[in-house]
Amino acid sequence: MSHLEVPVIEVSGLYKTYAHGGRPVAALRDVHLSVAKGSCTALMGSSGCGKSTLLNIIGGIDTPSSGTVSIHGRERKGRNESELALLRRREVGLIFQFFNLMPTMSVQENVALPALLDARPSGFVMERAAWLLKEVGLDHRLDHMPHELSGGEMQRTAIARALINEPSVILADEPTGNLDSSTAAHVLEVLLDVVRRNERTLLVATHSHELASRVDRVVHMKDGAILDA
Ligand SMILES: Nc1ncnc2c1ncn2[C@@H]1O[C@H](COP(=O)(O)OP(=O)(O)OP(=O)(O)O)[C@@H](O)[C@H]1O
Ligand SMILES: [Mg+2]
Repeated sequence: MSHLEVPVIEVSGLYKTYAHGGRPVAALRDVHLSVAKGSCTALMGSSGCGKSTLLNIIGGIDTPSSGTVSIHGRERKGRNESELALLRRREVGLIFQFFNLMPTMSVQENVALPALLDARPSGFVMERAAWLLKEVGLDHRLDHMPHELSGGEMQRTAIARALINEPSVILADEPTGNLDSSTAAHVLEVLLDVVRRNERTLLVATHSHELASRVDRVVHMKDGAILDA
């Protein structure tokens, strides 16, 4: 097995059922997925098919009804809340569909935050945050507050923030969904470049055929299941 075939993310028999006023919604139904180290994989499928649910469970911000998730061969189950918080900060970088930026912190502070929470030296962290913001084309917005940004600028801030702790796994939920086509192409370039140069692993939910044409593998989902695992 070449190093490219070593699975970094392994999902097995995953179910997620939301209780919705007595009528359960099956968001994931028996999902099996293995994502190779250093690969870029796109999750595609129509709205409501379960992409965000799957990413949130892999990223440790939601829990499955049953089934297992392993990252680097270590199972998620049995980790306590503080271990899960560490996992979210260090092992995986999350880029959300909605960006969750801290409204009272500047763009640069938002990007730096996950590293500052890990007590890394603030001078180094702020410099790296500025460098990442330059990479996503926001070096002129370091001191701006989130409410002063356009949607696309918020999205690029969220991408820089996901990269600050140099995570081996990056989970992205429609990272270019709010951008005009030329900004989207640029952000995509930055994201794929960072992932590939550093042998990171990317799993990205998207409706973009442009993005899907640039990754190593496309996984299609329908009604909570994977069609072609
Ligand atoms: N908290 C919740 N309670 C009940 N149902 C939910 C909840 N969250 C999601 N769902 C349902 O689970 C299904 C999967 O939702 P999910 O957000 O994973 O879809 P998605 O593939 O990411 O869609 P989109 O492309 O629109 O982002 C949907 O039918 C949705 O209505
Ligand atoms: Mg979604």
